[in-house]
Amino acid sequence: MKKTIAIDGPAGAGKSTVASELAARLGYLYVDTGAMYRAVTLFLILKGVDIQNRKLVQELLDEVEIELTEEGRVFLNGKEVTREIRTPLVDQMVSPVAALKEVRRFLRTKQRNLALSRPSVTEGRDIGTVILPDADLKIFLTASPEIRARRRWLQLKERGQKIDYKLVLRNILERDYIDSNRSEAPLKMPEGALLIDSSFLSKEQVVDLIYNLVRQ
Ligand code: DC
Repeated sequence: MKKTIAIDGPAGAGKSTVASELAARLGYLYVDTGAMYRAVTLFLILKGVDIQNRKLVQELLDEVEIELTEEGRVFLNGKEVTREIRTPLVDQMVSPVAALKEVRRFLRTKQRNLALSRPSVTEGRDIGTVILPDADLKIFLTASPEIRARRRWLQLKERGQKIDYKLVLRNILERDYIDSNRSEAPLKMPEGALLIDSSFLSKEQVVDLIYNLVRQ
């Protein structure tokens, strides 16, 4: 049985759904590292900080406390922000914030410690490359940008957030670009990772596939 599972991939590839269902099925801890970047982003938005002011960002990070619960709820300094971290405004701001080396350094150790605290499924952009280069299983989950945008658009619609599909697609393409081209821990396929294209696979098929690999 493999104990540390790393799942990376671009925005909207279905990582969160797949990783949380896989973790539940295995009885493993689910670590959503994107939620941590989103919580930091929300914090900086609420503080009204210009993120170009790196010194201030660094200072303010000392005030940030993030907690992820087993059921996937997210707390920022003791207040639940599970919904607030998934708004279009945070979607738009999170990639520039995640590109800051101060922010990445702040979250790196927390994420690694959490992922190694017990058997876990950890998902993000740099899990197999930086956070858990020694993971027992590395997956790179992707899908075409149009399919990813459509999934995200449907998800927002279900939550009652009306937004133009084209805008969602543009945001996905922009995030892909920033996440893949930043100098700090860019999104790329980790060495030794298995590529899964979920464009024409159901969530259940992807979960089954990875579940069988974990048990091999
Ligand atoms: O997976 P997500 O869409 O919730 O992630 C939000 C953003 O956080 C994403 O655009 C890039 C960033 N991120 C990152 O840089 N490294 C990670 N390990 C996870 C997320």
